[in-house]
Amino acid sequence: MLDDYLNWERYLITSEVDLPEEYQYQGRLYRLAPADRLYIAGMGGSGVVGDLIRDLSFVWGWPFEAVVVKDYFFRGGDGLMLAVSYSGNTVETITAAAAALRRGMPVIAITTGGKLAEMGIPTIKVPKASAPRAALPQMLTAALWTLRKIYGVNFDTPSSLPYDERLADRLVKTLGARPTIVAPVSMQGLAYRVKNEANENAKLDPSVEVLPEAHHNWIEGASGPIMAMTSPDIPAEHRTRVRLTVDLLSGEVFEVPMTVGGILTFLKHVGIATVKIALARGIDPLKTPRIDELKRRLP
Ligand code: PA5
Repeated sequence: MLDDYLNWERYLITSEVDLPEEYQYQGRLYRLAPADRLYIAGMGGSGVVGDLIRDLSFVWGWPFEAVVVKDYFFRGGDGLMLAVSYSGNTVETITAAAAALRRGMPVIAITTGGKLAEMGIPTIKVPKASAPRAALPQMLTAALWTLRKIYGVNFDTPSSLPYDERLADRLVKTLGARPTIVAPVSMQGLAYRVKNEANENAKLDPSVEVLPEAHHNWIEGASGPIMAMTSPDIPAEHRTRVRLTVDLLSGEVFEVPMTVGGILTFLKHVGIATVKIALARGIDPLKTPRIDELKRRLP
């Protein structure tokens, strides 16, 4: 797993994806055209693709509203859906995709295979990794190239995600203390990914608080260590909120460029740090026995 994170750049998709302009599904015609609302369905390590697209679209003003779907149930109206599932077998994602198709909404799948790849809808197949969460570079860049094709959005295409041992060590220390991860709305997807990596790899339970809302409640009860996230790319109002939090409560500040390269470089370090924490605790970072057991117990 450590190898996957260390070699993340190998999995970046660096050229256009092949997609039709329209397709037939169960006798109905679906057109892949820009829509005002982009739904991104997916859970866990695949669901983070939607979270990060929402952050990126907010920061860079992309021409759609990004709506993240993390449930079986989908009640959306007009739009376009990306259904992201590493295994292709996640019941919530498949159910939401089927619901969108029933509503006449075009759906594009991003997966390594499974039932999603067999639905008969346009599918971008990405290479496998040791775990879904370790396959973020290929799933995120597949989604971004899809958005380039449909909406013409611009994004940076990094060729390297340089490793900095000092950053990894700082993250080991910060995340090992089970902090509250504090981030503004423009970085909330990134913050949740950090939490999720600490949950799944290190088996720790940090929490996330999102600003400015957390300044109206959590701030009064805050007591534990704080990991604060900020960026030169986010609105000044959001930067100020993060700075004021740290002025009042102190905390470790991590500044992350909200570019594709900046986000993936930071998350590569988070992945490595959480694997290191797991190994130091004598835990297997790859195994997720409770998640597996839950999936087994589902009808
Ligand atoms: O990282 C993991 O292993 C999980 O969070 C999975 O991504 C999650 O359970 C959903 O599965 P999939 O990514 O195959 O859709």
